[in-house]
Amino acid sequence: MSIDEIHTPQAGGSVSEPPLGQTQIGTTPVYAHVWEDAAELNAKLREIVLHRAATTPGLQKSQCGGWQSERNLQLWGDPAIDELLDRMRAMVKSVVRATVQNPGDDLLEGWDIEAWANVNQLGDTVTTHVHSGGVNMWAAVYYVDCGEDENAINSGFTRFLDMSGIPRPVSNKVQAAASTLSSRGEDGKANCTEPERTGEYDLESAPIPGKMIIFPATLPHYVTPYLGNQKRITIALNLRHTKFVVTDFENHFSRRRQMWRNYRGLMMAMYSVKKVVRENLAKYVPVDKWPTRLKRSLLGGGGI
Ligand SMILES: [Fe+2]
Repeated sequence: MSIDEIHTPQAGGSVSEPPLGQTQIGTTPVYAHVWEDAAELNAKLREIVLHRAATTPGLQKSQCGGWQSERNLQLWGDPAIDELLDRMRAMVKSVVRATVQNPGDDLLEGWDIEAWANVNQLGDTVTTHVHSGGVNMWAAVYYVDCGEDENAINSGFTRFLDMSGIPRPVSNKVQAAASTLSSRGEDGKANCTEPERTGEYDLESAPIPGKMIIFPATLPHYVTPYLGNQKRITIALNLRHTKFVVTDFENHFSRRRQMWRNYRGLMMAMYSVKKVVRENLAKYVPVDKWPTRLKRSLLGGGGI
């Protein structure tokens, strides 16, 4: 199944709330919108991201190979990034309207975004992961550059797992899962090995430049190996909001969940203080110059 089978008309050139393509993996909705006017924006984002990749070491999280920026892209202070964030906020409004009856401004506004960039080269993959934690409600991906002919994309697909619990027929066609070993598996990254699965019921999204997808932060997903010889560039985002909750059975008793349930006022106050401090500090001191402990404390990684 592919999310790209459902295309919707394009919104105007401004950052008005875009029409959404919607499809489902199991019972979980995944929303998509292709910004058809994004060529110029993508060129700028590409330049910014590649410059960062050439000048900073980045992080090793769920990717097998490839480069991932620190999770502070939202504070880089570049007009192109600000435009991307505006488009992201416009799209999340459309998603809120699609998932909440008569939402007020308190739900449509106030989305706090954490973002980072990814650059993949031949053979790089991203292993299965989720974005849940803290107040991450939705997660998103924006495709800047598929690193291939846009009309013949055949690698670097984002794939969502079917978590519906719907029993599926046993398949005898277990293949080496698309997300298994990176061709750079010799880097010794244990997390580059995953159980094999057929992927038959996965939902697939092609990395069409200008496409934005939004999905529940709890929905596991991975990226199939990029097989081109250029650079596949994406921006991943966590969309945080303190006025929503997510049913989370498995992590119901995690310390963070309990803190948010039992001390909501305190957690909201701490969250707001951190947000104000980091956004104001970034105006005066570039986020790259922050000491590591300060970054960890103010930015976290899915923290409060
Ligand atoms: Fe992700």
